[in-house]
Amino acid sequence: METPLGKFPKLHKTPIILVLATFALVTIVLLCNTLQGYLYLPQDLSKPPPSDNGELRGSKYVAVTTKKCDIFSGEWVPNPDGPYYTNTTCWAIHEHQNCMKYGRPDTEFMKWRWKPDDCELPLFDPTQFLEIVRGKSMAFVGDSVGRNHMQSLICLLSRVEYPIDVSYTPDEHFKRWRYTTYNFTIATFWTPHLVKTEQADANGPTHTGLFNLYLDEFDEEWTTQIDDFDYIIINAGHWFFRSSIYYESRGIVGCRYCLLDNVTDLPMSYGYRKAFRTAFRAINSLKNFKGITYLRTFAPSHFENGVWNQGGDCKRTRPVLSNETSFESIELELYLTQIEEFRIAEKEGKKKGLRFRLLDTTQAMLLRPDGHPSTYGHWAHENVTLYNDCVHWCLPGPIDAWNDFLLEMLKMEGEHGRLSGYEHKLYLSDKRMRLFK
Ligand SMILES: *[C@@H]1O[C@H](CO)[C@@H](O)[C@H](O)[C@H]1NC(C)=O
Ligand SMILES: *[C@@H]1O[C@H](CO)[C@@H](O)[C@H](O)[C@H]1NC(C)=O
Ligand SMILES: *[C@@H]1O[C@H](CO)[C@@H](O)[C@H](O)[C@H]1NC(C)=O
Ligand SMILES: *[C@@H]1O[C@H](CO)[C@@H](O)[C@H](O)[C@H]1NC(C)=O
Ligand SMILES: *[C@@H]1O[C@H](CO)[C@@H](O)[C@H](O)[C@H]1NC(C)=O
Repeated sequence: METPLGKFPKLHKTPIILVLATFALVTIVLLCNTLQGYLYLPQDLSKPPPSDNGELRGSKYVAVTTKKCDIFSGEWVPNPDGPYYTNTTCWAIHEHQNCMKYGRPDTEFMKWRWKPDDCELPLFDPTQFLEIVRGKSMAFVGDSVGRNHMQSLICLLSRVEYPIDVSYTPDEHFKRWRYTTYNFTIATFWTPHLVKTEQADANGPTHTGLFNLYLDEFDEEWTTQIDDFDYIIINAGHWFFRSSIYYESRGIVGCRYCLLDNVTDLPMSYGYRKAFRTAFRAINSLKNFKGITYLRTFAPSHFENGVWNQGGDCKRTRPVLSNETSFESIELELYLTQIEEFRIAEKEGKKKGLRFRLLDTTQAMLLRPDGHPSTYGHWAHENVTLYNDCVHWCLPGPIDAWNDFLLEMLKMEGEHGRLSGYEHKLYLSDKRMRLFK
């Protein structure tokens, strides 16, 4: 399976016997309460789910953040009750994000929750989520960090229900899952550059491939498939660090680190901007689409003491405070670029009654250098491209908070296409300005 920086083997499939064994265990637990003291119970089966923090008005869940609050500006605070699933209760954890399996020794990184400065962000409530999305469908469009997000969602929902596989192709890049009780569908669309792309050279100047990006052409693998979805969660980022040749109107306009004499080198944000512009244009030009588009903003990587292929690693075991870190300039540039394109698309969409929302996970994740697999995404003797993975996120782990955000945003969605109780200060708050120094 493709990852931002290299190829990994395909998604790990849990043998049916394990699924049956888990089912049997659950049944035993339910039938024999008296045995509980004697059985080893996976942590999250023996523990009640977090309480329903949402107020119930009529039959509708509403957000708790009723006063103006920027839910994306905050800090991580201890949550001794976490996590809410483990690798034994959830089969959806991608092999390379199953950090506990590969011997990660510390567990504190799973025990934090996001605390916005001016309000509380409720922990994910799977029943509430499934009630809200009953009869609906959600598409994850983008790269393997988007897949990482979807697998976190499946694991968080697993306390209530597991989906069945209803994929229409054996290609692991295009999965479709269905929650039968709730008639809710999740799909993933693999499009790490968002636009039409070809691999020009598997090796390239940095041995991570050289790609032809057709910056003004739709990637029809997803743009032709999403008309009927109620929610699109779109993301892109780490693949734009690779060498690429930029095409517009079918001609070369420049490249990003292609080292070809006759091609002008352009900044990475050039391709990134145009790719988002084209992807949003595709969404805004769909005939029947009536859904909500969430831009899940760039999640920074945390290589320290070297870049990804020169010994860089992420060995921390605790989050940092927002006054203890700041962005790398290139990451800030990507973040601001995608938000500028988002704003343009949002305005365009409004004319057609389409809703665009920012799922601005960037600040929260900037503060989680402890949340990546590092060397615990594979066995020590295995030779994988991304040996120290400081890009993806361990499951369970801080990426689970993305679904806390998502649920809260779903709850804030008003009847008339407006977000209620919602304030998003973006980079304008003093605190954020400090992060972006
Ligand atoms: C889950 O993690 C444990 C270590 O905590 C490991 O021994 C086990 O093999 C893992 N199981 C699966 C199914 O990944
Ligand atoms: C399931 O949801 C879809 C929309 O996603 C709807 O068209 C269909 O009628 C629903 N099926 C049932 C059985 O409710
Ligand atoms: C650049 O030069 C290579 C050969 O060195 C050629 O194949 C390619 O078409 C040239 N590209 C442009 C944009 O002129
Ligand atoms: C960051 O803020 C905390 C309080 O929120 C404070 O205790 C700490 O000293 C600050 N650290 C720095 C480096 O300013
Ligand atoms: C790892 O694999 C690559 C090719 O897949 C090879 O070039 C490299 O030498 C291998 N490294 C080790 C330490 O085996």
